[in-house]
Amino acid sequence: MQAPRFPNEAYRVLLCVCGGIAAYKAAELVRRLRDAGADVQVAMTENAQRFVGAPTFQALSHRAVRTSLWDAQAEAGMGHLELAAWAQQVVVAPATANTLAKLAHGLADDLVSTLCLATTAPMILAPAMNHRMWRHPATQANVVLLLSRGARLVGPDDGPLAEGESGPGRMAAPERIVAAMGACA
Ligand SMILES: Cc1cc2nc3c(=O)[nH]c(=O)nc-3n(C[C@H](O)[C@H](O)[C@H](O)COP(=O)(O)O)c2cc1C
Repeated sequence: MQAPRFPNEAYRVLLCVCGGIAAYKAAELVRRLRDAGADVQVAMTENAQRFVGAPTFQALSHRAVRTSLWDAQAEAGMGHLELAAWAQQVVVAPATANTLAKLAHGLADDLVSTLCLATTAPMILAPAMNHRMWRHPATQANVVLLLSRGARLVGPDDGPLAEGESGPGRMAAPERIVAAMGACA
């Protein structure tokens, strides 16, 4: 499939990676975004770093990865508010149940949630979690709230999950996320 192209060279995408099994798929997403002409800045939650290391994203994005709000060097340069303003589009992939809840309720207690609260860029959410977490009324209510505020959802897909169960909870394929982002670029 031909990768969609973003409207301008170096279209600025902020990719927020959260702490779920599907974090490894976010590495492929960086490749796809760059193939589509995006300049990708990755920010990771603390828990995301338990699943995939920042060097993987650094190598793929060709940019130093932001991993903490309390990074003196980064905050002296491209601080979190500058990064939030820099982004032309934000994608949260995988979006955990926890981070969806934080975004729905306006929490800003770590780098990713603070960036998401501080940006005015269009936001795409690619949830990935166990199907019971996804179906939980709290998660569903959080998603409804986020959609009502203009966030766009890609997935989750239905199918086999990492824990051996099956149901809605698989992160959408990276190419589908890039296609959805291209449509609102
Ligand atoms: C092995 C393992 C896999 C997990 N996978 C997911 C997942 O796919 N989706 C999810 O929402 N939470 C998952 N969790 C729980 C999150 O890691 C946990 O809720 C965490 O607080 C999320 O933090 P973050 O949203 O700041 O990244 C998993 C936890 C463990 C230990």
